[in-house]
Amino acid sequence: MKKRLISGLIVALSLVLTAGFAFAAVTGQCSNCHTMHYSQNGEVPAGAEPDGPWPVLLLGSCMGCHSNTGTATIKTGGIPVVWNTGGGTTDPGTAQSWSGANYNLAGGNFFYVSIADSRGHNIDGMYNQDAFLENNPPGYETARDPSTVRWSDSYMLTCAGSNGCHGNRNVDRSTYTDGFSASFVAIKGAHHGDDSTIDGSTVAASFRFLGSSALSTYSVLGLEDDDWQQSAAVDDHNEYKGAITQTDTKTISYLCSQCHGYFHSEISDQTPPSSPWTRHPTDTDVMGKGGEYANYNDVVAAGTYSLEAPVGYVNIPASPRQIVTAGDSPVICLSCHRAHGSPHDDILRWDYSTMLAGGGGADGTGCFRCHTTKD
Ligand code: HEC
Ligand code: HEC
Ligand code: HEC
Ligand code: HEC
Ligand code: HEC
Repeated sequence: MKKRLISGLIVALSLVLTAGFAFAAVTGQCSNCHTMHYSQNGEVPAGAEPDGPWPVLLLGSCMGCHSNTGTATIKTGGIPVVWNTGGGTTDPGTAQSWSGANYNLAGGNFFYVSIADSRGHNIDGMYNQDAFLENNPPGYETARDPSTVRWSDSYMLTCAGSNGCHGNRNVDRSTYTDGFSASFVAIKGAHHGDDSTIDGSTVAASFRFLGSSALSTYSVLGLEDDDWQQSAAVDDHNEYKGAITQTDTKTISYLCSQCHGYFHSEISDQTPPSSPWTRHPTDTDVMGKGGEYANYNDVVAAGTYSLEAPVGYVNIPASPRQIVTAGDSPVICLSCHRAHGSPHDDILRWDYSTMLAGGGGADGTGCFRCHTTKD
């Protein structure tokens, strides 16, 4: 473990990247990001994170680049920020469109873990272990974890590898002294890789590096918004892969089920799974259920994509959908949760305590985007 808290570090890194970044491959001078000897005039190079040298001759760790002491969620050089260490960022809440430098990116923000453990995934090197859950993913099902190494409760969550979500989950966390080293091995090549087609064949070609060639059957598919939803609108957003059965291994919800298996697999006593459900279903269609579900997001207009409670796609659209339809509107884990962190308990996309049956609460929003007659 190099260090637990990051101070100013790579905020100072002045990367000079070309404008626009439709592809994830990084651009610019090698020295913007790499240091050959971790030494310049005999000292730590300007802009480098202290306590190096770091893996892959980089100026810092994953968190060094992907954090910010300020409130901007995309840093100089086009680095997406998932941890604004001082907070102050804006959650889009119920908005259908937004734009501004301080909006949390689509995965949310790890900052909220500093307010309460239950508001995000507790990642090694950011904050402490989750005081209540420790290193145990609720609902863990061994059979749902495709990693040959599998989850280990001896370690905290890391960005990538067997105890992480990104990259090659066959890279064994226990082989490395710290989570960062394992993460760099697990995503090796991704930042310089080709992601022009998201087909899951490599880390770079998986939705947001959530996959690898080693476990390509489980690589997540999707359409990647080019500013990670820092600005977003009904026709400007990520599209998440879903399905209408729980057997498709390339959905975003199957990825979550690699560590929270039972929440995806043991959801009903019927075969095939159907109402009455025993756990809230994912990878089942919303609008096709008819009744209240056919009016998904009717507070805006029935069938309009909701950025607050998004549904997945079954058939990949060429561009982000403004209107979703019956048969192509699966519930996904991210209909209700953020992936990294949110201002609400259980990493929810809204405050559950405001969901009041029979009116008087946050009518039309949150759960009511789908359960349109319960408000
Ligand atoms: C030297 C800075 C730097 C370091 C260190 C770094 N990244 Fe990145 N990362 C970037 C940049 C720049 C991008 C944006 C690339 C682009 O333009 O799409 C990025 C993008 C990403 C993305 C988004 C990919 C996508 O499809 O949009 C993920 C996920 C990611 N990095 C994970 C990691 C992980 C995990 C680590 C540590 C193992 C790491 N990064 C280390 C600079 C860095
Ligand atoms: C914007 C930041 C950035 C710039 C600029 C950059 N790199 Fe990298 N590079 C990374 C990151 C982050 C990683 C580690 C994560 C990964 O492998 O995806 C990496 C990994 C590598 C690797 C090992 C993985 C692989 O793809 O083979 C090599 C070699 C490499 N870089 C060489 C270079 C060279 C040479 C240059 C200049 C021509 C350069 N890089 C410029 C960020 C950058
Ligand atoms: C690599 C394993 C792994 C994956 C994949 C994973 N999680 Fe988790 N999750 C954990 C662990 C470990 C915990 C408990 C410790 C913590 O909260 O940091 C947890 C806790 C949670 C919690 C409870 C938060 C709390 O602190 O009470 C939620 C909600 C959650 N995960 C949702 C998701 C969603 C949604 C996905 C998919 C986008 C996902 N998880 C993918 C490992 C994982
Ligand atoms: C993205 C749409 C969506 C959102 C958001 C959503 N649900 Fe659901 N919910 C569904 C669908 C679809 C079903 C399955 C209905 C069926 O099979 O008849 C379901 C089923 C249920 C059931 C079980 C019904 C049964 O027949 O067994 C309950 C209870 C429920 N949801 C409560 C909630 C609550 C509480 C929230 C907010 C925390 C919520 N839902 C958010 C779409 C959604
Ligand atoms: C309909 C909204 C909804 C969907 C869809 C949903 N969740 Fe949740 N989740 C919740 C709510 C609300 C809670 C808070 C406690 C409760 O009511 O169970 C929660 C709690 C959790 C927890 C914490 C459990 C604990 O023991 O503390 C985890 C982990 C979790 N969800 C993971 C997932 C995963 C993985 C998926 C997809 C397979 C998923 N959720 C899909 C609404 C949802």
